[in-house]
Amino acid sequence: MFRRSLTAKILVAVGITVAVVISIYTYFVIRVQSAWWHERTQAQNVIAASLIHEYLNGVMLSDRHEEVQGFLLKMKGSDEIWRGRLIKRDGTVIFSTDTQEVQRAVMTVPAELFTENQVLQGTRVENGQRLSVVMRPVLNSESCQRCHDPKFAAIGAIVVEKSLVPAEANVANNRNLLIVYGVVIFVLVGIVLWLLIVRLVTQPVSNVLEQMRRVQTGDLNARAAAETHDEVGELAGGFNAMVQSLDNATRELEESHQKQIQQAGKLATIGELAAGIAHEIRNPLAGIGAAVEVLAEENNLNGQRTEIVAEIRQQITRLNRTLHDLLEFARLRDPEIAPCDVHEFIRPMLALVRPDAQKFHVKIEERLAAGLPSISADAGQMQQALLNILLNGVQAMPSGGTLTVSTESTQRNGSEIVRIKVRDTGVGIARQHLAKIFSPFFTTKHRGTGLGLSITRTIIEKHHGTISVDSEPGNGTTFTLELAACKPETFAPQAGPETQKEFAHAEN
Ligand SMILES: Nc1ncnc2c1ncn2[C@@H]1O[C@H](COP(=O)(O)OP(=O)(O)OP(=O)(O)O)[C@@H](O)[C@H]1O
Ligand SMILES: [Mg+2]
Repeated sequence: MFRRSLTAKILVAVGITVAVVISIYTYFVIRVQSAWWHERTQAQNVIAASLIHEYLNGVMLSDRHEEVQGFLLKMKGSDEIWRGRLIKRDGTVIFSTDTQEVQRAVMTVPAELFTENQVLQGTRVENGQRLSVVMRPVLNSESCQRCHDPKFAAIGAIVVEKSLVPAEANVANNRNLLIVYGVVIFVLVGIVLWLLIVRLVTQPVSNVLEQMRRVQTGDLNARAAAETHDEVGELAGGFNAMVQSLDNATRELEESHQKQIQQAGKLATIGELAAGIAHEIRNPLAGIGAAVEVLAEENNLNGQRTEIVAEIRQQITRLNRTLHDLLEFARLRDPEIAPCDVHEFIRPMLALVRPDAQKFHVKIEERLAAGLPSISADAGQMQQALLNILLNGVQAMPSGGTLTVSTESTQRNGSEIVRIKVRDTGVGIARQHLAKIFSPFFTTKHRGTGLGLSITRTIIEKHHGTISVDSEPGNGTTFTLELAACKPETFAPQAGPETQKEFAHAEN
């Protein structure tokens, strides 16, 4: 469910990003605040230590040390967490805001305080609480050396401490507030994003998907609502345009299919009719032929009559050929399929057209590839198909040229096929004729029937092959035949039960 929902994926991705951003922001804000509180407390401590130092200088010179204790208590006032003290070099407290500490060594003095004689700042932990500490050495000035041993550079130190607990509590408070705000922002961003995705993406995309499913079930009236001008709107528009062209293409296909069916019906009728007429004409024609033969055998025919008789015989032969073609076209029998080598029917057909080719100065070039796979075909029908193409080629070159026949094997959609190409350098086919040359009775020749290519195409289709033509008027024409090669296992001897029986028989 989650893996399939775009909304869920976007929400989770944005949710993680927002959570990470808010966490990083909160972390840095808390760090900055914490540092600020710490520095502020220390700065206060430094100022307090300076004040005490100034005061101390004044009272020491006039020998009024005792007033320091009172001054410290005054400075503390009601600040419970503030502590100020004056210590000797060995750490013994001389004056302190906490009177109980006086004359006691309550802390260890860091060695560098009196070796470097500089103000030290830092923190320390007491009873689990963090304290900000400032230590300022009291230097042994000339006036001090009246009473203090001059060998020490410092006679003691002022120590000021303040608990950081209230500052930390403040920072913790702010952190909790930031977390609450973060959660509120997180939830608000989530809700707004969810509403936006549903309104702008999920709903329109579901609409397109729903229409797509309708198209899948074959309903080409489905159209998606393309209301917005964004990418989703464009998607819906694109989808609608696609379905519209699919609808148009389907309609055109149906119309053309209808036309083809009607055409096929007409052709079948014409075929029947033609076959009937051909039969009717054949017998009288045979009679006429026999009568003309008798006439031809007569010796007393003068020259002009002999010519007439010869013309009649020629026309009878032509009519016979037309009748033969007509009957062939009308009743093309189913091919008797057997494995055969294409060169076995190409070579005899080339031999057949060679005399005609020589007559018209047409050179024949053979480019037959070696080791071609066999095809499953009716060799007789294939010969007839090829002969039609070869004759057309020769007839297209009345003033000579080259007729090239080439073969090759290649792959198409993962299966091996054998390709036969017949190329001539003849007159070519006019563009407006290209679509018609396979139609029965279409011819541009004075003595043609126009059945050659339609018979050829029927034969190739019955062999589940393809025939295509490529022609350039004035430059020549190429016909390409493609036929599936036999699969090797098709003709491999099978060791079935019959074969086993025969072996058993032979052994006996
Ligand atoms: N190689 C070619 N070069 C130029 N035109 C061609 C070629 N092959 C076919 N045609 C054209 O296609 C038409 C139809 O050819 P088809 O073989 O069906 O009939 P035909 O050759 O005219 O007559 P038939 O084959 O009965 O003698 C031809 O009349 C010719 O115009
Ligand atoms: Mg022909």
